[in-house]
Formats: sequence, structure tokens, C-alpha cells
Amino acid sequence: MEIQQLSASGEQNRRPLTEIKGIILAGGQGSRLEPLTEVTNKHLLPVGREPMIWHPVKQLVSAGVRDILVVTSTNHMGDVVNSLGSGRRMGCEFTYRVQEQPQGIADALSLAETFASGKKIVVLLGDNIFEYSIRPHLESFLQQEKGARILLKEVGDPERFAVAALDEQRILEIEEKPANPKTNYAVVGCYMYDEQVFDIIRTLQPSGRGEYEITSVNDVYRQRQQLEFSFVRGRWADAGTFESLNEANQMLLSVRNQILTE
Ligand code: G1P
Repeated sequence: MEIQQLSASGEQNRRPLTEIKGIILAGGQGSRLEPLTEVTNKHLLPVGREPMIWHPVKQLVSAGVRDILVVTSTNHMGDVVNSLGSGRRMGCEFTYRVQEQPQGIADALSLAETFASGKKIVVLLGDNIFEYSIRPHLESFLQQEKGARILLKEVGDPERFAVAALDEQRILEIEEKPANPKTNYAVVGCYMYDEQVFDIIRTLQPSGRGEYEITSVNDVYRQRQQLEFSFVRGRWADAGTFESLNEANQMLLSVRNQILTE
């Protein structure tokens, strides 16, 4: 496939964002999608016309991020590399790292420290599908002097996600998969961090489900009053269950796997 087909419309008008590095987290067991994930990684399942993991790559490349780390599990690294390659045909450069044990999103992110080399980072969960480009959020983040930025989306089933309580200005609280969500604002899988993130991860304790939670990282930034937020434009789905995989599939089919910018 040619690079042009992988690019989102409007990309040529955008300056590359060399001050930010991209990280795609594509590990985990995908147990909620068994038996589809028995022999392959969730992030290689088809969504629309392409493997799922191509979507976060296209989001980053079309937003101007060219230096991209992909983290996946040991048993699926070969297939992920077979699908993505060096990045040359997609207009980016990939670095790969293996997460040996599924110990959570923050644990997977800790593997990115050397790659980040003190720069700002944008982290995408490999199963999160966004109809519109994330570029405006990256631009807002780059205006921030320091801290982190998260994205929120109003959803009908907030108990599946991290949920944020907020006033007009600030995030007041974030809870990971609360039984009784205080709002309908899900914290979606696109996180922007400054260089403090890796020191923060080192301070974390595993949660009740035995994982190093990304929500704990975001909560430290919140306590430091350094957590900004924006709202997701258009449709969003996390393709982690059969229903949401179907939703993501419908969404990307309808836009022919292109990322909308206008
Ligand atoms: C993860 C995060 C959660 C976030 C969600 C977005 O959940 O833990 O905070 O809201 O991604 O897709 P998981 O995919 O592990 O259920």
C-alpha cells in the first residue's frame, strides 16, 4: 500500500511536531475478545479495511508525529512487526519494545523512558479509534508549560472506563472503572505527558486488579494541578469488546479508514 493512502487528508499542510514523540501501547491479553484473540493480537484484528493498529499509527503520522514506539507482548511482537515494518511506507520510524508480563498500561509505558529521552510524549492505546484527528489536542498540549493533558468523551457506559468528575476549569477526581460513576465522562486512551511521567510511574503501587494503572499517573498530575483536558470531537470507540469492536468497525468503514480533519 502506498504512503498516500495511509495519510489523512490535509497532512501536507501541517508542520511536523518534532518536539513530541508517539507511543502506541498494543499489549494485553485481549481476553474479552476470545476466541478472536487466541492466535493473534487484538490490535491486528480488522477494523474497517485495515488492521486495528494502523489506526493509531495514522492518527500520529497525520498529526505530524513521526518518531513512534510500539509496545506489545512477547508472543505477538513478530506479527506486529510483520504488519507495521520499519515505518518507511507509513511515513514514520518505528521503535519496538516488549512488555513481558501484562502488568498494566503504566507498566507498559515505563518501557518508553529511554525512547522518550526527556521529550514530551503522546500515548495512544492501540484499541482506541477516533473519528477526528487528535492534532488540535497535541497543539493545545504543546502550549502548556508543563504537566499532562487527557481527553474526555461522554459515553453511555462509563463504568467500563476511567471516569472524570470536573467543573468548568479542572478535573476534580478520576476513578478507574467505578461501580457507581459520578459522571458520564470517560477518560479515553490518548494521554499527553511531559518528562515527569516516568518518575511518577516509579512511585505507583499496583491496583486491586494487580495492574499499574494509567489512572494513577493521571491522578498524580491532578494532585499537582497540572492536569488539563479537552473533549473528543466526533465518534470514538475502544475496540476492546465485541460490541465496541463492531462500533469501531462501522465507524472506520464509513470513513474508509481515513481520519477526518475538517
Ligand atoms: C483502559 C484504561 C481506562 C480507559 C480505557 C480507554 O481500560 O484503564 O482508564 O478509560 O482504557 O479505552 P481497559 O482497556 O484496560 O479496560
